[in-house]
Amino acid sequence: MTHPIAFPALTSSVEQNTSQLVDQFGRYKQKLRISLTDRCNFHCAYCMPDHPQWLAKKDLLSFEELFRFCQVMVQLGIEHIRLTGGEPLMRQGVVHFIRDLQQLKTQGLKRISMTSNAFYLKKHAVALKQAGLDDINISLDSIQANTFFAMTQKNIEPVLEGIAAAQQAGLKIKLNCVVLADKNASEIVELTQWAYQQQLPLRFIEYMPLDQPEHWQRHKVISEDEIIQQLKPYFQIQKQQRQHDPATIYRLNDHYELGVISTISKPFCQSCNRLRLTATGELFTCLFANTGTALRDLLQPNREQFLLATIRQAVWHKKAGFIAQQQAPLRKISMHAIGG
Ligand code: 5AD
Ligand code: SF4
Repeated sequence: MTHPIAFPALTSSVEQNTSQLVDQFGRYKQKLRISLTDRCNFHCAYCMPDHPQWLAKKDLLSFEELFRFCQVMVQLGIEHIRLTGGEPLMRQGVVHFIRDLQQLKTQGLKRISMTSNAFYLKKHAVALKQAGLDDINISLDSIQANTFFAMTQKNIEPVLEGIAAAQQAGLKIKLNCVVLADKNASEIVELTQWAYQQQLPLRFIEYMPLDQPEHWQRHKVISEDEIIQQLKPYFQIQKQQRQHDPATIYRLNDHYELGVISTISKPFCQSCNRLRLTATGELFTCLFANTGTALRDLLQPNREQFLLATIRQAVWHKKAGFIAQQQAPLRKISMHAIGG
């Protein structure tokens, strides 16, 4: 995409109908994650199927369709949009899209974020900052080259260079680390010390049963409590009151913030304020939902009434959550396609 898109204002019939998105359990939705592509150059042990089948390019939503969707969602109360993948930097045109999304900041959008593996970040960091990206979450499961390779099938150097470039460009960064008992669990202290020295906020994430039920096993999950136990001899740790954020925040040595996302040991479904859109335009109301709602046909001009009604309906029927399921989803779609 080489030129900015002119987006028409929504029709007045839509403007009359702007109340916020809420589900049957009274949970309002403010956060939206959009998968721009299912493609990824990494093969993370906890995410990618052994033989991923990539979507055909023609099946991906166009940036026009994506913008139309974001515009409607912001009217419905979405304040935070996160661009994910696969790897979002593998979708050409992402920087322009972020620039276009700035228009929605006058309509209620507060933040535009990205989750990336940082492999291509060195090249794009300055442009992303200039386009108005507010912050970026970077997956970093280890700082040991061999462990990193074992977990992702990629070399760590470009990732560390990408992180350094993002720091230099002035992008706000958070690091994400998924802990697997048989891979990087012995490096929790080391990674925390590294992030602490770099003054980069880090969040540990409990391993979730998303795509590879045959790989995920309960004993491979390292829980929030186990993570904190490992860190106790090395840092003075104070637990903070849990806010709306899915991460529990701990203050290390009175100034450094460490987060732990404990979907398995302490699910936060009762306060979930998120929605997700796949790269093909399916709305998922939960990471663990078996099916989504296809919206692509409704993202064409003059279909806003149907689009709104369909979104409201889908959101209203959002299930109680993972607590209610407590098992791996049976769906065909994978984590790299629904967006991390
Ligand atoms: N468990 C926990 N987190 C996961 N992610 C992907 N798959 C899983 C999983 N099975 C998250 C990671 C990664 C982001 C893209 O998605 O945090 O950084
Ligand atoms: Fe790619 Fe992210 Fe999945 Fe890793 S977690 S394979 S980087 S989409």
